Amino acid sequence: MAGKIILISGATRGLGRAMADEFVRQGHIVLGCGRSQNGIEQLRRHFGSPHDFSVVDVASDDEVKAWASRLLGAYAPPDLVLNNAGVINRNARLWEVPEREFSQVIDVNIKGIANVIRHFVPAMVKRKRGVIVNFSSGWGRSTDAEVAPYCATKWAVEGLTQAFAQELPSGMAAVALNPGIINTDMLQSCFGGSASDYPSATEWARGAVPFLLKLGPGDNGQQLTAPGG
Ligand SMILES: NC(=O)c1ccc[n+]([C@@H]2O[C@H](COP(=O)([O-])OP(=O)(O)OC[C@H]3O[C@@H](n4cnc5c(N)ncnc54)[C@H](OP(=O)(O)O)[C@@H]3O)[C@@H](O)[C@H]2O)c1
Repeated sequence: MAGKIILISGATRGLGRAMADEFVRQGHIVLGCGRSQNGIEQLRRHFGSPHDFSVVDVASDDEVKAWASRLLGAYAPPDLVLNNAGVINRNARLWEVPEREFSQVIDVNIKGIANVIRHFVPAMVKRKRGVIVNFSSGWGRSTDAEVAPYCATKWAVEGLTQAFAQELPSGMAAVALNPGIINTDMLQSCFGGSASDYPSATEWARGAVPFLLKLGPGDNGQQLTAPGG
C-alpha cells in the first residue's frame, strides 16, 4: 500500500490536517490545499518535499484548474482523492441565514467537489484507476434545526456521488463518506462546548486512514461511515 498519491482538499485544519499527518506517517505522498496562506506555509514547513501544499479555494474553478494542471504535470494522477474541504453555516434558522452565507456553503460543499472532480478525475479515468471520497455527514442522511444550508449540501453530496459513481469506468470508485462526529472547529461551531465530548481529529484519523486506504472498485457508489467518529 505504500507510496500512494493522496489528494486532500481542506488539509490545513481538522480532519484534513489529521489525515495528512497519518497518510505521511504511513509512507504516502500528500497533495493538499486550503485557503489559509499561514496554514499552507505551516504544512510546507512541516512536511517538505515530495508532499505539496497549495493555497486553493475549491469554490473557484479557475484556482482548482490551475492547481490540477500543476500537480498533474509533476505527479502521477492521485490514487485517492479526498473531497474533504467544507464549511457550515453559523447556527441559525433558515430564514435568518444571509444569502451570501447560504451561497458560500453551496459553493464550497457542492461546487467545490464538482470543481475538483472536473479537473482531477479525467486523468484518473484515463488510466481507469483511483478512488474519490466525497465527504458527506450524518447530516447528509438526517437533519437538524439551524443547519439547513449545510444539510442541503450534504444531501446533495450523497446524490451527486451516486450519480457520478455510475459514470466511472470499472476499476474506479466514488463513495460518499460520513466521517462520524469529531471535535474540530466545524463541530465547535455547531455543537458549542459539547464538541469536546467527541474524539479528536488525530484519534479519528488513526482509524479512518487505514479504512480509506482499503477502499476499491467494489465500494463504488456506497454510502459509507468511517470508523472511530
Ligand atoms: N467534524 C465533524 O464532526 C464532521 C462531521 C460530519 C462531516 N464532516 C465533514 O468533514 C469535512 C472536514 O470537516 P472538519 O470538521 O475537519 O472541518 P474544519 O475543522 O472546519 O476544517 C475544514 C477544512 O476545510 C478547509 N476549507 C474550507 N473551505 C475551503 C475552501 N473553499 N477551499 C479549500 N479549503 C477549504 C479549511 O481550511 P481553510 O480555512 O484554510 O480554507 C479546513 O482545512 C467537511 O466536509 C465536513 O462537512 C465533519
